[in-house]
Amino acid sequence: MNKILVVDFGSQYTHLIARRIRSFGVYSEVIPPDLIEEHLSPEVKGVILSGGPMSVYDASSPKINESLLLKIRRPVLGICYGHQLIAHVLGGRVSKSAVGEYGNSKFYISSKHTLFDDVPESFTVWMSHRDSVVSPPPGFTVLGHTEVTKIAAMANDERSIYTLQFHPEVVHTEYGLEILKNFVFGICGCEANWNPMVSLYNFLDEYKDCDGNAIVAVSGGVDSTVTAVILKKIFGDRLYPVFIDTGLLRQGEREWVESLFKTLGFKNLVVVDASEIFLDRLRGVVDPEEKRKIISGLYVSILKRVAKELPNIRYLGQGTLYPDRVESGATSSYTDKIKSHHNVFDKSFVGLEVLEPLQDLYKDEVRELAKYLGLPREVIDRHPFPGPGLAIRIVGEVTPEKLSILRKVDKIVDEELRRWNLYGVVWQFFPVLLSIKSVGIRGDHRHYGYIVSIRGVESVDAMTARFARVDWGFLDSLATRILNEVEGISRVLYDISNKPPATIEYE
Ligand code: XMP
Repeated sequence: MNKILVVDFGSQYTHLIARRIRSFGVYSEVIPPDLIEEHLSPEVKGVILSGGPMSVYDASSPKINESLLLKIRRPVLGICYGHQLIAHVLGGRVSKSAVGEYGNSKFYISSKHTLFDDVPESFTVWMSHRDSVVSPPPGFTVLGHTEVTKIAAMANDERSIYTLQFHPEVVHTEYGLEILKNFVFGICGCEANWNPMVSLYNFLDEYKDCDGNAIVAVSGGVDSTVTAVILKKIFGDRLYPVFIDTGLLRQGEREWVESLFKTLGFKNLVVVDASEIFLDRLRGVVDPEEKRKIISGLYVSILKRVAKELPNIRYLGQGTLYPDRVESGATSSYTDKIKSHHNVFDKSFVGLEVLEPLQDLYKDEVRELAKYLGLPREVIDRHPFPGPGLAIRIVGEVTPEKLSILRKVDKIVDEELRRWNLYGVVWQFFPVLLSIKSVGIRGDHRHYGYIVSIRGVESVDAMTARFARVDWGFLDSLATRILNEVEGISRVLYDISNKPPATIEYE
């Protein structure tokens, strides 16, 4: 298997580069700048230095030096910050421009190059920079420019270093994918021989001889279900899927999971009703991180207890995805920990070996795998539901009364979404109960009830998201049903925040 490394200098598009390359059939991984040398295994055929928000002149900006660049000994492509960093490190000059260049610009090729094979002489590119390279390092040829930026692409073929000021990975750059393909195939000589199923077969091959039994925590979501189905291929009936009812689930969730696992041929599903203890521990707690910590702590301790009670358990399966590890700060020292994701457990979980068959995959790749494994459509298309459940969709204290109200609203939202054929169109769409009340009118009476906020987003991998631009008629019927049918709600809001800066969940 060949591989392209993408070095993360902090750009919001870094993962998009890796995803694009994977879509060409070439495996790609995002790594932090301080771990380049450790990752230079024989299968690495090229390295991309991503964009980033900083200037090469910032004392704290991530850097690499010339000797590290030499050690790479494979083609290197610098994009945006990567382009400036290469110029800076190899003796060119980078300066702060009087005007920045943001959005669409016309790019003109000034020197023919493999990087631009099958690309016209001028085309639209997406720019996002203030600093510019104003003189190239010795040995570099300028390949192209825009009206504002004289050196918008350069190359040193002898050293196999190529740079672009624009972002080829974003859709606004015409021929961006061709340029990336020219680097990956034409320059690095990669072969297209990867897809998510290759990851699956590598995993099955590596762990085929596991003896003893395994448990896997399941929720009915696509990630944990795919994980369970994969582990069943290794362990058969020696696998125990464990479903913990936290009391923070949506209406009918437990029965749905029980019937799903029966259909999928699992004989050993263990269902634990722990709702009382979760609600008891959450009483009076309003801080989001405290809620998350209580829930994850309890969840882990129950899972540990179950693992001890079951016979000969030696492995713990987990549906951790690549973005889960990124957002938990596990892959990059330049990524802040945003929220404590309860599904990334400690590696030393009661001495069990942790198996994570999805740890290098993005969500859409897991869905592809789910299709390949023949999972039912309703699992493949199911919207993500967070481990801490409705507790992080009730802003403020979680009480049985609020849970009961939110479940009713959630059911209506789900029904309306499907009735308007929007379920498959949005990434997630759910209600959040705000613990504040407002005045309304029911019949001739004053009504003092909770405010519910509807959060709908479009996304590809949940790392960034746009609020869903849904039909007014749909929102109208949704609000009408909620206000008419759910006692205790006085007002319905629609959330128009994008991520970043807002996150998808409220807590
Ligand atoms: P945020 O709120 O961080 O959410 O923008 C990104 C995606 O992750 C889901 N999410 C979670 N999933 N355990 C999970 O399994 C969690 O603790 C958790 N927190 C957020 C969220 O629904 C969205 O899809």
